[in-house]
Amino acid sequence: MVKGFVAGFLVGVLLLVGGVYYYFASGMAPAAAGDPPMPFEEKLANKSLNAHINKANVPPPAIPANEETFVAGAKVYKEHCAGCHGLPDQPPPAIANHMYPHATLMFRGRGVTDDPPEESYWKAVNGVRLTGMPSFKNVLTDTQLWQVCQLVAHASEISDSVKKELTPEPAPATQPLAPSPARAVASKQE
Ligand code: HEC
Repeated sequence: MVKGFVAGFLVGVLLLVGGVYYYFASGMAPAAAGDPPMPFEEKLANKSLNAHINKANVPPPAIPANEETFVAGAKVYKEHCAGCHGLPDQPPPAIANHMYPHATLMFRGRGVTDDPPEESYWKAVNGVRLTGMPSFKNVLTDTQLWQVCQLVAHASEISDSVKKELTPEPAPATQPLAPSPARAVASKQE
């Protein structure tokens, strides 16, 4: 009786492991950015991410949420984050919606204003595995990381001068091209 139960249990486990292996090995599991998510993928990934962040016990922001911080954060953001996370009043970057998961648009809708800056700090420092979100641990200083995380946490309350800092540079004026000798020859032949 016990033997039968153990044998049944082992067969069940083997079938499960085999099934999961087959799901991945046969190419049924999603691999492209445009594929729909795996069953439970988002739930499990978010659970694991939240558990890591809770365990990390990130200390409260080392710098205050004020105008000076937001202006400094805007400079960091424009250079390192805007290419994926977008700028205020601008169309989303071409790649933002073509990643899986999508890069959150920080200046549209809620962005991450409903997350404490500590949570965004953890993500910016460590990156998010199996997403396009890189780790900025050895790219930005701790001060810069807090500045940019205070900015995105307060993205809906920024002043005009912070917005100005986040405006894309106008394209450089193009100089009219001097006619090149090759062109002069080409036009002579016409
Ligand atoms: C190459 C593209 C890319 C760059 C550059 C990038 N990110 Fe991200 N980021 C992503 C993607 C993709 C996600 C989505 C991850 C997810 O949904 O779990 C993300 C997620 C985040 C999140 C969590 C968003 C949420 O909805 O919970 C924060 C905060 C964040 N990034 C901050 C930053 C900051 C700050 C910078 C600049 C210092 C930055 N990112 C630069 C691609 C990028």
